[in-house]
Amino acid sequence: MLKEILKQYQIPGMLTMNNGETCTTKEMWEIRRKEILTLFAKEVYGEMPPAPEHVTFTVKGCWENQIQGKARIRKIEASFMTPSGPFTFPFHYYEPVADHPVPAIVFLQFAEHPVYCSFPVETIMEKGFAVAVLNYDTIQADRYDFAQGLAGMYITGASRWDDLCADTYAQNMKRGETQWGFIGAWAFAASRIMDYLQTLKTIDKTRIAVMGHSRLGKTALWCAANDERFRLAAISASGCSGASLSKMKDDTCERIGQITEVFPYWFSRRWPSYAGREKEMPFDQHWILGAIAPRSFYICSGSEDSWAGPHTEYLCAVAANEVYHMLGMEGLLHPDRMPEAGDIFAQGSAAYSMHKGTHYLGQFEWNNVMEYMENMR
Ligand code: GCU
Repeated sequence: MLKEILKQYQIPGMLTMNNGETCTTKEMWEIRRKEILTLFAKEVYGEMPPAPEHVTFTVKGCWENQIQGKARIRKIEASFMTPSGPFTFPFHYYEPVADHPVPAIVFLQFAEHPVYCSFPVETIMEKGFAVAVLNYDTIQADRYDFAQGLAGMYITGASRWDDLCADTYAQNMKRGETQWGFIGAWAFAASRIMDYLQTLKTIDKTRIAVMGHSRLGKTALWCAANDERFRLAAISASGCSGASLSKMKDDTCERIGQITEVFPYWFSRRWPSYAGREKEMPFDQHWILGAIAPRSFYICSGSEDSWAGPHTEYLCAVAANEVYHMLGMEGLLHPDRMPEAGDIFAQGSAAYSMHKGTHYLGQFEWNNVMEYMENMR
């Protein structure tokens, strides 16, 4: 049944290489994966600058014996050079008291929307997971303004942003056609936190995830697709231009035209040109989700989250199986039907869950993701 739906919407396969050959091996996939990343950098999210040569981490605060003796907490500041000068951002790091290396989650957090994205720190500590929490506002305030935050600092001539500050259109046009937008900048910051986790002996480096909800779910997707140090991307309600099929969007869901009208600055300047042309697009979002393979993703939907399009998220995950199967892996193990509220499909090398309700990341998702990571050995 699901195969027929994918066929009906003409969801394109991702295994034809740029030179026309079919990708059939692990070695070919390494090349094909890079082709997909380049495509999505140019057309969708904008190009990621290279990682900085040095990142300095300064401990700004350290609290032992916290959360009823279960954890220690640190406030860290990460600093690195950009073409426009130094950039510094803070994050909080919570580590459970343990006598062995623990798995970790980089959690991308909203400052202004706590109601739809919760963070059960006590449960996380009890389950023995470290968590680094990044408030996305500290990288880039979420408004159409490249004169503030990280993204503009990598755009040539960025020191003149101030002249353009009042004119958002001029700012956007100053940005090269394929230069990055804010999703790229948030993802880049998550990778800098990964740099920090790499320095810690207390972390199990084989089990580090990046997790985010909604626009930060799109960010977690883009981050993990690029940064192979992440073993898992936990992507909640990422909806349009995240882990969901653009070609399947109906009138109930957000479409490319809607998202790029309100949030053009999240994406490459080319992405709006696909508005209304979804059917003609030679690719779809399962390609970038597939670019996480052979590592794993965990897609989380809400049954009543129509703007994000839970059915389009689920089928995106199903369509990404193409690459896992080519690699001889199980991929997402799922029944041949659409999902229902309460479903958890977490037995394979990728996972999917659907909570009952609207746009939310909460206890259900955290428990599922941590349980999945516990089994990843
Ligand atoms: C808007 C946007 C979505 C996005 C969401 C969010 O609703 O249209 O694409 O996912 O904001 O990040 O909260």
